[in-house]
Amino acid sequence: MRRLAHISDLHFGRADMAVAEALVDELNSMAPDLIVASGDFTQGARSREFRQAAAFLKRLAAPVLAVVGNHDITPYHLLERFLDPYARFRRYIQPGIEPVWQDDELIVIGINTARRMAPELNWSYGRISQGQMNGVERILAAAPASLYRIVVGHHPFLPPAWDEDARVVMRAKRAIAVFERAGVGLILSGHLHRGYSRFVKPEVVGEEVAGVKESSGATASRRLMVVQAGSAISTRLRGEPNAFNVITIARGRATVEPRLWNGAAWGPSAAGAQ
Ligand SMILES: [Fe+2]
Ligand SMILES: [Fe+2]
Repeated sequence: MRRLAHISDLHFGRADMAVAEALVDELNSMAPDLIVASGDFTQGARSREFRQAAAFLKRLAAPVLAVVGNHDITPYHLLERFLDPYARFRRYIQPGIEPVWQDDELIVIGINTARRMAPELNWSYGRISQGQMNGVERILAAAPASLYRIVVGHHPFLPPAWDEDARVVMRAKRAIAVFERAGVGLILSGHLHRGYSRFVKPEVVGEEVAGVKESSGATASRRLMVVQAGSAISTRLRGEPNAFNVITIARGRATVEPRLWNGAAWGPSAAGAQ
């Protein structure tokens, strides 16, 4: 059994520091095996924001696997943005931008979906390249078949059910097909500041609550689920409270339980709120 905390979109610079403080306590008391942080540590990739993020991470007792968000690439220093876009992330958050965490039950692969530029006006959208997909495929082909497989990226791979037009990472469909073939059980992301879980193939949802519990154990028939975390501590909220996910992996099955900030404490979401 493994327990993960999935936090996202901290946005230091626009973070509620009281909620941040409570999150440190909550994460340290739940003592997960791993904390997955799916990007947007800062608001504007400023050094002081990254220093706040680093101080926050330093206080967490559990290991952290992090990926870059679009807000973690500086929009103010264009030369740096083009020449060394992940320099601040590497310095303050984590040396590598595509980390892999593995033990004898679980493998978690981080992929970078944030880009320094794009052939369109808005550079905040995410992309995944064929090379990155091949890389995930290669790593998972070499991993023991018994490991539960998780991929983490900042940008969403499926939109929320109530907003099918929300933009997903470029090449999401192709990536999902590759991940399914490689036996991935969960894709964890953020960016939208909205929490939801969706199966890639909703037509085969079984007796369990759709989108909350994965219902298949074996790697071959594992059903891929996309899990989005809301914003853990930022004040940039989109109609939802601050939130993060607690993910339990046991006997090849994943259970996702969102935890919401109620203004004074972290608590479970109301039944059916997902
Ligand atoms: Fe964000
Ligand atoms: Fe983002």
